[in-house]
Amino acid sequence: MAGNNLEVRGNVKSAETPARSRGFASRLLIGLSSAVCIVLFQNCGTDFVPLSESQLSSLGQFICSPSLQENFNKTYYSFARSNCAACHGTSQSPRFALPDAALSYSQFNNTDQATFKEYALNPSHGGGAGGLKNEVAINLAESRFDGCKSGGGGGSGLVTARTTPLTLNATNNIALRSFTTLDSQLEVGSTNLGGARLHFQVRVDTAAAVPAYFITRPSLQTGTASVAVRGITIRINGNPISSATAFTMVDRVIPPNTNPLAGQTPNGNLSTGSAVFEFPGANPLTDTVQFEFELLQAQ
Ligand code: HEC
Repeated sequence: MAGNNLEVRGNVKSAETPARSRGFASRLLIGLSSAVCIVLFQNCGTDFVPLSESQLSSLGQFICSPSLQENFNKTYYSFARSNCAACHGTSQSPRFALPDAALSYSQFNNTDQATFKEYALNPSHGGGAGGLKNEVAINLAESRFDGCKSGGGGGSGLVTARTTPLTLNATNNIALRSFTTLDSQLEVGSTNLGGARLHFQVRVDTAAAVPAYFITRPSLQTGTASVAVRGITIRINGNPISSATAFTMVDRVIPPNTNPLAGQTPNGNLSTGSAVFEFPGANPLTDTVQFEFELLQAQ
């Protein structure tokens, strides 16, 4: 929400024409309505308008970029440009609010996040620029920036099992995909999982400048064996996606004969979270996914 406020204020400052302002308002409305579609994972028919990354970010669905520079641009930098540029965008060191984002990022690294926050929250800093009014925005910037750092979800980096590649065949609509014979679909790890299957849902947003994948609700269907699952990470086309940290905290033992697709209790859902990540140059029909596990083993 803080991001929205900043954007609106920016528009007012640049004294836009009424026509342009109306355009902004209707774009925002379209954005909000399609956000509801995405949040509910519904097929919104012909009215479906995929969100751009900045629209998603301002609505609370933050997408990590592959580089820390880009994540800085979307978090601390946009805050600093709006609130601190009068001094730190000109000559005052550290110059983390310069018009040039790359220079600003290198200057930002001359201080540390805790000091930045302390100054941002200090009412006697910067002639009214600092203060508690910044608390929400600065906490959001901090948690998003930290959440995008490699392994930000707390993954151990240890991988003892990895599936073979499965074609995503992703579209704008959320759809179920499955590894139906996991015993023979692991390129690393045990081949004796008692007939377990791995399910997940996928969609792609190709309307933004950089396409983004949404991988959600991984679940394990078990057969004869109870299976322990811990620490899930994702590869696309063989490349680890370090920002896809939504499932790194999974730590479950799924009892035998559990079928997540049959609405049983307990079910085999491993997480209700979503891994959302940009994938430049995505080919949604042919890109492949691999799931990696810190642990995937029959008990
Ligand atoms: C009116 C000018 C002015 C504005 C606006 C301003 N600052 Fe500063 N800032 C200074 C001055 C002068 C210093 C150096 C003296 C000091 O450390 O207080 C400084 C120093 C800093 C430092 C250096 C800390 C270190 O590593 O030593 C940080 C971080 C900082 N400011 C953050 C901010 C943030 C965040 C904002 C926006 C919310 C902001 N400032 C807005 C004038 C300003």
